[in-house]
Amino acid sequence: MTKLPPLLLVGASGHAHALLAVLQRLAAYRVIGLIDSFLPQGSHCHGYPILGGVDDLSELCERHGVSHVLVAIGDNYQRDVMMAKVSQACPGVDFPVLIDPSAVIAHGVSIGAGSIIMPLAYVGPGSIIGMGCLLNTRSSLDHDGRMGAFASLAPGTTTGGNVSIGARSAIGLGSAIRHRITIGSDTVIGMGSLVISDWPDGVVVYGAPARLIRTRLVDEPYL
Ligand SMILES: CC(C)(COP(=O)(O)OP(=O)(O)OC[C@H]1O[C@@H](n2cnc3c(N)ncnc32)[C@H](O)[C@@H]1OP(=O)(O)O)[C@@H](O)C(=O)NCCC(=O)NCCS
Repeated sequence: MTKLPPLLLVGASGHAHALLAVLQRLAAYRVIGLIDSFLPQGSHCHGYPILGGVDDLSELCERHGVSHVLVAIGDNYQRDVMMAKVSQACPGVDFPVLIDPSAVIAHGVSIGAGSIIMPLAYVGPGSIIGMGCLLNTRSSLDHDGRMGAFASLAPGTTTGGNVSIGARSAIGLGSAIRHRITIGSDTVIGMGSLVISDWPDGVVVYGAPARLIRTRLVDEPYL
């Protein structure tokens, strides 16, 4: 029997719990444990051992022969920072693309390293998804969509065709974005929004139709 490649998950939050469910369904990796700097080493979370913190990653990867790491952090900015830290600590490590078996990915789609496509999501033909993106449960990026690195679609969001979403921008729960809309980087579209115009970098907008609420800093929490 072929031995599955060992994988470490960085993070132990509810998002990690959701990713573990996808990993179990995929059965393509052997999750050897979780990395979390805030939980005691040796404790258990979601049925897996906490093997250490981020500072232990390099030693853990070497000890367990790990070449696959997934970063399970829901916040886009924090996920970007953590993937950079992991790359620095373990230069040879691979960030696999995780696609739930129930997701539908059309032809001609490009998906960057470490991106995650959750159950029942749809990605339309010709779409380009950068590294570290998150397309959450039942989200839909229609044809020729673009997502910059570490951008996210929350559960139940829908875009029309040719929508472009900048790096680290987050589209909130259940929002809808009209076709051919462009959204800048580090912008948050609040949950339940109807987006019918373009938005620049670094703003919070919400409502139906979505209105400018304020500017935001790149590392401001939004979840
Ligand atoms: C937009 C968001 C970032 C909050 O922005 P904020 O300006 O910090 O908002 P606050 O929480 O301080 O609330 C300020 C006011 O805006 C309202 N508000 C917040 N988000 C709203 C939204 N999406 N639509 C309408 N009103 C909203 C609040 O009810 C509050 O109203 P009040 O002043 O009458 O009490 C947040 O509400 C949001 O939508 N985050 C994304 C959540 C999400 O998609 N999660 C996915 C999990 S996978």
